[in-house]
Amino acid sequence: LPRVLSGIQPTAGSFHLGNYLGALRQWVALQDTAEAFYCVVDQHAITMDWDPAQLRQNTLVSAAQLVALGVDPARSSLFVQSHVPEHVQLSWVLECLARFGEASRMTQFKDKSQREGAAGSSVGLFTYPVLQAADILVYQADEVPVGEDQRQHLELTRDLATRFNGRFGDTFTLPAARIPQGAAKILDLQSPEKKMSKSLPPAGCVFLLDDPKTSAKKIRSAVTDTGREVVADAENKPGVTNLLTIHSALSGIPVPELEERFAGRGYGDLKKELAEVVTDFVAPVRARTQELLDDRAELERLLAGGAARAREVAAATVATVYDRVGFLRPA
Ligand code: TYM
Repeated sequence: LPRVLSGIQPTAGSFHLGNYLGALRQWVALQDTAEAFYCVVDQHAITMDWDPAQLRQNTLVSAAQLVALGVDPARSSLFVQSHVPEHVQLSWVLECLARFGEASRMTQFKDKSQREGAAGSSVGLFTYPVLQAADILVYQADEVPVGEDQRQHLELTRDLATRFNGRFGDTFTLPAARIPQGAAKILDLQSPEKKMSKSLPPAGCVFLLDDPKTSAKKIRSAVTDTGREVVADAENKPGVTNLLTIHSALSGIPVPELEERFAGRGYGDLKKELAEVVTDFVAPVRARTQELLDDRAELERLLAGGAARAREVAAATVATVYDRVGFLRPA
């Protein structure tokens, strides 16, 4: 079976529709055809300002949400990144292979360091993609289901793996990004020139754990474009196109069919129907997440099991790597 790994930050507590349609939906689907490792990347969540109590709570909420969305801990290894110290152990070696210049070219660092400036940002924010490469390579993953915004980090991961293999002998599998067609970049509802993101104002971002009424309201207030025809045209009608993309991804109805269905009707009708499609989707996820959180002991037990399975694979990779780079084996 091919190996799959992916990770998600617990930063906002609730995931949003972009996370789900770009990445998490594939996580769930891939469980049928792959050996899957999925982690809540709490160590990536301390690269920028954070609150310790919030982080702990958000990590649990994130894990519960993944299960509620369909990640099955009996079939996949679901775990918390900091429970598997091998990620960081591998990360150091990769940091010593990564070049300052290539890390400087990462657009996510450029975006995220804008507020504090590069000089005022943490070194962890800078080396973030190298830890991400370690997350992936430590499992010898073949595929990494992610949204479009992670493409550059996956390229860096492949570059680092190739460099290591070239210098120390074939060690790492080269992972391929698995980016969905259509929903790879869900746009913000208020600023459809930007991707949907937890760091923009909440009105444009549909959180899975929002009260379904709030989600419906956000959809109904989405910014649409001039004109009135419901047609997909990413260039001239990014807002409407985004709504069609979300509808299609959740309902399974192809976009051309939706266009036909809304021909002669306005944006209002599309939004009204989409609001229903979205609330039908989020309401049970929210309820199931709450149920899982009500039994914290069981949830923590599931995560411990996932981490134990993950460590078996990760420890073997780190042992090989440490040997190949010339670290003396402890007696
Ligand atoms: P994160 O936590 O920001 O996002 C989790 C996943 O959601 C996808 N995504 C989107 N997809 C479509 N449209 C959007 N608007 C949208 N916003 C987010 C992301 O592409 C991602 O797949 N660096 C990663 C976390 C990470 C990771 C890893 C991923 C750490 N280690 C190893 C894969 C493998 C991140 O910040 O994702």
